[in-house]
Amino acid sequence: MNKRTKTALVSVTAAALMASAAQAANKLEIFSWWSGDEGPALNALVKLYSTKYPAVAVDNATVTGGAGTNAKAVLKTRMLGGDAPDSFQAHAGQELTGTWVVADRMEDLSSLYKSEGWAAKFPKAVIDLISYKGGIYSVPVDVHRSNVMWYVPATLKKMGVTPPTSWAQFVTTCATLKAKGMATPLVMGENWTQQMIWESVAVGALGPKGWNDLWAGKLKFTDPRVVGTFTTYGKVLDCANKDASGLSWQQATDRVLSGQAAFNIMGDWAAGYMTTTKKLKAGTDFAWSASPSTNGTFIMLADSFGLPKGAKDRTEAINWLKVLGSKEGQDTFNPLKGSIAARTDSDLGKYSVYSQSAAKDWKSKVIVGSMVHGAAANEAFTSGFGSINDAFVSTRDAKAAAQASQDLATKSKIGM
Ligand code: GAL
Repeated sequence: MNKRTKTALVSVTAAALMASAAQAANKLEIFSWWSGDEGPALNALVKLYSTKYPAVAVDNATVTGGAGTNAKAVLKTRMLGGDAPDSFQAHAGQELTGTWVVADRMEDLSSLYKSEGWAAKFPKAVIDLISYKGGIYSVPVDVHRSNVMWYVPATLKKMGVTPPTSWAQFVTTCATLKAKGMATPLVMGENWTQQMIWESVAVGALGPKGWNDLWAGKLKFTDPRVVGTFTTYGKVLDCANKDASGLSWQQATDRVLSGQAAFNIMGDWAAGYMTTTKKLKAGTDFAWSASPSTNGTFIMLADSFGLPKGAKDRTEAINWLKVLGSKEGQDTFNPLKGSIAARTDSDLGKYSVYSQSAAKDWKSKVIVGSMVHGAAANEAFTSGFGSINDAFVSTRDAKAAAQASQDLATKSKIGM
């Protein structure tokens, strides 16, 4: 081998080594609970990221389980163990600020908001939810609505009922359906989906002001009006299936689609599931209305991704956040997810008729935050409320549930 060839070989090897080192360094781990039936929207967003950053190997880490009940537990272990993912899903609001931001685990993204011009692109109310002491701590990818009642028009027609507009009417409709042979007019799934029913009942009964007062610590759970929300919730539970704890939210939705149940109260990720996974047509194959007694209100939640301090692949994570917060990113993700874009400039022509109606409601209804999905309450409260719900489902003791909720609120520093 002559000297020139040898030198060339050495430099080729060096270049290859450097390239593979660069490749190894170019990775990104994102963490969420969006897998399986919940995966298509995130997968599309990851694909978009990969077309922009082809050299980055994306580890799309997921822990299955609706509402992140399992994922959040794993995240906690990882965060406390010093093994933070590069970017992780957290609900805008107290779940983020009252949990990870107060604990000083997140990076302030204000400069990213400035460089991307996002202050003018996201609604102020949403930015407020992810802000803490002057910093902005995540990038919202969507806005979901929690208070939606889903049904199949053909089922209601066959049974001769119309969608009830108040909880009192719901209970009457339920009796009619039972009399006509439908054993469980309402289908619900595991614990957190049951809590969503209470959430809709409570917002209906307390109104937006009462609901906000609850989370501001100005209205006690032991107030007779709040005790009353549990009493009504109990009546609604009498319309529901007894095998709920073993059902995922998708399985609950399936029972509405099969005609076994008439109604399901679920966030509008159900629309994503029905249109994207089940290939059904919104407005004909399935339809919706606001949960009873909440027509004037939009109970919102927003999924967001943040940048934990000590992220191993910080540059890649920032680029991920840029894609996620872009108009293109949001209009890639949300039409598949059933949500609307958090940004105000999205192209509604890309969305289903359900999402188009949600976008209209987002502008015209009174907005309040969901407790179950971390907007109104911190993680300490939401995770603790699960046991209160379980106890109530079996005992139906409204006063005890209200007292336990107040104790939990105090312990979780709600409104402080
Ligand atoms: C919510 C989340 C939604 C959807 C849902 C069901 O907490 O915000 O995007 O994933 O859980 O898992």
